[in-house]
Amino acid sequence: MTSVTELAYIGIEASDLDAWQHFGVDLMGMQLAERTEDSLALRMDAKAHRWIVVRGDADDLAFTGFECATEADLGAVVANLRAAGAEVAEGGADLAAARKVERVVVTADPVGNRVELFVGLADADTPFQSDVLFSNFVTGAGGAGHEFLMERVDRQEILDWYGILGFKVTDYVKEEVAPGVFADAVFTRCNERHHSVAWADMPFPKRIHHFMIEVGSINDVGLAYDRCMDAKQPFEMTLGMHPNDEMFSFYVRTPSGFNIEYGWGGLTIDDSTWQIKHLDKLDTWGHRAPQVVADLLKP
Ligand SMILES: [Fe+2]
Repeated sequence: MTSVTELAYIGIEASDLDAWQHFGVDLMGMQLAERTEDSLALRMDAKAHRWIVVRGDADDLAFTGFECATEADLGAVVANLRAAGAEVAEGGADLAAARKVERVVVTADPVGNRVELFVGLADADTPFQSDVLFSNFVTGAGGAGHEFLMERVDRQEILDWYGILGFKVTDYVKEEVAPGVFADAVFTRCNERHHSVAWADMPFPKRIHHFMIEVGSINDVGLAYDRCMDAKQPFEMTLGMHPNDEMFSFYVRTPSGFNIEYGWGGLTIDDSTWQIKHLDKLDTWGHRAPQVVADLLKP
């Protein structure tokens, strides 16, 4: 079965590009790749860009880019999508140039999220450099990170569609968060990263709840936590750890209202031995609402 190799880039439609540049570069530790009046590109590694932020009112996920290893692989995925009834359009030379890839096609998943499939994401001309990172972003074989998206439609339809891209279920988490109220999520992978795309049906007003970026040192999580606190960037969740992907992380609000999970120590999966798990907790510890801390400090 042909598979995409990684979630390689993410696109955001954002109303405040200056805020995004500050957030991405100064707080998250990314490198500015390119800035125009209406767009912003950010680097996380040797690649030309990993985040593409375009001006617009949505303040939400605009597209996700999945890489294929070869033209033949891309062709096979496109053929399989079309056979399953999906519309797939050639992106053309202008879009390929904007994305800094060799060839890109555009489609939409069953939820309506724009998905770009491509080959050949270019490297930047210079080595990656962050002004604030102690270590590096963990990308490589695991891609840019993971996205946690809102289901909105039948789960099986989503899993079948992403299955055509080569995604496999890693595990399921179903936690009773209040009597009779369940948080119910499914985590899927296309490489050694525990998951590149996760799904849950929850009351959240965006397409995307969070995008996780991983750093190579636990100190970088703490340093980013401090930078966000110093900048008074609103937090979504305090430090904590997930039992399924073992990510040590915190969640901070982006300028577009969804969240970044800033993590370290994520599990990698050995595809030859992994068996699908069912868990009943989203958090091993922590990841509390920041209001809990605020309430403790009330006089
Ligand atoms: Fe996550």
